[in-house]
Amino acid sequence: MASPDRSRTLLRRMALLLTVLVLVITSLSAYIRLSRAGLSCADWPQCYGERLRQAQQGVSATAGDSDAVAAARFAHRIVASAALLIIVAIVAVCFSARPVWRAEGGVALALLALALGLAVLGRWSSDARVPAVALGNLLGGFAMFALCWRLLLAPGAALARGARVWAMLCVLLLATQIALGGLVSATYAATSCGGFADCLSAARSLPWSALDPWREPVLDGAVPTNASGALAQTLHRGAALLVLVATAPLALVAWRSRRRLASALLLVLLAGTAGLGIAMARHGPTLAMALAHNLAAALLLATLFALARGPATADER
Ligand code: HEM
Repeated sequence: MASPDRSRTLLRRMALLLTVLVLVITSLSAYIRLSRAGLSCADWPQCYGERLRQAQQGVSATAGDSDAVAAARFAHRIVASAALLIIVAIVAVCFSARPVWRAEGGVALALLALALGLAVLGRWSSDARVPAVALGNLLGGFAMFALCWRLLLAPGAALARGARVWAMLCVLLLATQIALGGLVSATYAATSCGGFADCLSAARSLPWSALDPWREPVLDGAVPTNASGALAQTLHRGAALLVLVATAPLALVAWRSRRRLASALLLVLLAGTAGLGIAMARHGPTLAMALAHNLAAALLLATLFALARGPATADER
């Protein structure tokens, strides 16, 4: 049996590789989904949602994928299979250690459950028309990334208990905000409304069922518009303000608790995610902006989740 030090080094290396692979997977998955939605398509915004409208007329969802999207789909399968193997290896290392590494083993089992769940969901991903599938992919992928990040980082100085509870509440708020962002994207709501006042007045007349992720979006007009997407747009913009107000002070607490890197990262990622969101709302989303927005949100969630972590357990020291 390997010495505990060698097993720790092995675990850290596997966790690093896994973290990178999971970020590649979430980014490839966003690239495939957003490209198919029509972001940055040649005659934007007329071509927005064209694939959905074709699918609603019975055309296969994978027909007409560009070479880049087909390559991304292939790469996604390879990288996801490699990630699954690494997760199984991490589970084996954690549960063969004596005493068993319970904290890391628990995280590894959660990763395994998420990876298997996403593999099952993947069967529907390419021809799914309801937003629920995209939401499951987005949230599952981000949760995996946050868990990998937590597995990777050596525990720094823990925040006081109250601040950790606060960080966990911010994680829940941010997860809700990410789900709303996913809903904006998966319901093709980019053209549903313009400025915040316009979105708010359009959203007022909409029922809550407009947020139902099991409902297929309906796009009408020469500039394809899903009128009921205004509700998700309005809530996503409003919740961004709540996230900023709740999370920014936590950066100050982290700074004072000697978590300087996490504190700086938190502020930069908050500003970056919100800034990119505002740019998309003003000028219309491009593929590059939406991908950067997605990446910044994943890193933000992982940073916050790591801050919610308690002191190191005995076997981590
Ligand atoms: C903390 C703040 C924010 C977070 C965490 C966040 C997160 C997200 C996420 C995860 C998505 C889905 C990306 C994808 O489909 O892969 C999204 C989409 C979107 N967000 Fe945000 N967002 C934030 C703030 C904002 C703000 C302030 C605005 C605008 C004022 C905005 C506008 C949008 C738009 C327009 C989309 C849809 C892009 C598309 O059509 O695909 N976001 N957001």
